Amino acid sequence: MKFKIATLPGDGIGPEIVEQAIKVLKAVASKYGHEFDFQYGLTGAHAIDEVGDPYPASTHDLCVNSDAVLFGAIGDPKFDNNPKARVRPEQGLLAMRKKLGLYANIRPVTTFKSLLHKSPLRQDLVEGADFVVVRELTGGIYFGEPRGRTEDGNKAFDTCVYTKEEVERIVKLGFEYAAKRNKRLTVVDKANVLATSRLWRETVQSMEKDYGDIELDYMFVDNAAMQIIQWPKKFDVIVTENMFGDILSDEASVITGSLGLLPSASIGLLTSVFEPIHGSYPQAAGKDIANPIATVLSAAMLLESLNLTEEAEAIRRVVDKSLEEEVVTEDISKGKPYKTSEVGDWLAANI
Ligand code: IPM
Ligand code: MG
Repeated sequence: MKFKIATLPGDGIGPEIVEQAIKVLKAVASKYGHEFDFQYGLTGAHAIDEVGDPYPASTHDLCVNSDAVLFGAIGDPKFDNNPKARVRPEQGLLAMRKKLGLYANIRPVTTFKSLLHKSPLRQDLVEGADFVVVRELTGGIYFGEPRGRTEDGNKAFDTCVYTKEEVERIVKLGFEYAAKRNKRLTVVDKANVLATSRLWRETVQSMEKDYGDIELDYMFVDNAAMQIIQWPKKFDVIVTENMFGDILSDEASVITGSLGLLPSASIGLLTSVFEPIHGSYPQAAGKDIANPIATVLSAAMLLESLNLTEEAEAIRRVVDKSLEEEVVTEDISKGKPYKTSEVGDWLAANI
């Protein structure tokens, strides 16, 4: 089959890790008789430098007219250290999420046996932990209005807004993921303090009866942050609002031993986007040392979204094999590390 894949490498290590995922996808294409047409688009700091916009209209058109989007990372320290910058790379990511209607961000947290020793937690606590964070991605405090500063500059404000419809569609997805997995859903909110969280809870309560076979529990976000560390194996699917999901998914990712391994999918109204959950890691950019596995596993999620299940499995298998045989980059290597490009070549050759 033929598919058009919008390819947005972005900033920092983005281009080099995306290149490895493309090698692997090309190997899949030739083995299984598919054709992937990779069309490149500008995004992030890179796009600001070239055209003054971190998510230009041409990139959006490309995404809308593709079967899936493969995304690297965005962000550049030259903007992080300048709070007065008028346009920021992150605005490109937020604009992309909003314009593509990507209301759900799926972040699976899985552990790899060969990496348990890298986890900051005790091995017996993490071994076998396997859950998914379903994060709402186009609402809440990230997008709520009004936001800004008073004229004298001495007061700043953001607004957290959710509608019942926004809560329903993400929670529905949470229930569906739980149904496909171990049938447990944890709704994370701060209903003891926030009005939006009370709307979440009320909305979920009205949906409960439609999902009688799912074991549901509610957890305040501070308690969830604690339990993810204390007892990561108890979770199956977590569904939560935008900012809580941002924070909890970073927390959850490190217990696996490396940020460099976890993929994500953002899905919604238009084309879905697949990206590693780590950022642009500017210190490593261009050094051929970054771990490409999170991006390669994001490519596996991409294939799954195109119903190429067997092909996605082939990618996961080859990644497992590279971990077992220690064909890995320096962040997780115990012996002599491989370069980013060497890991990509090996994965593609062993598909
Ligand atoms: C993420 C990132 C983004 C977010 C940033 C880069 C805007 O942290 O995808 O989790 O906060 O959503
Ligand atoms: Mg984040």
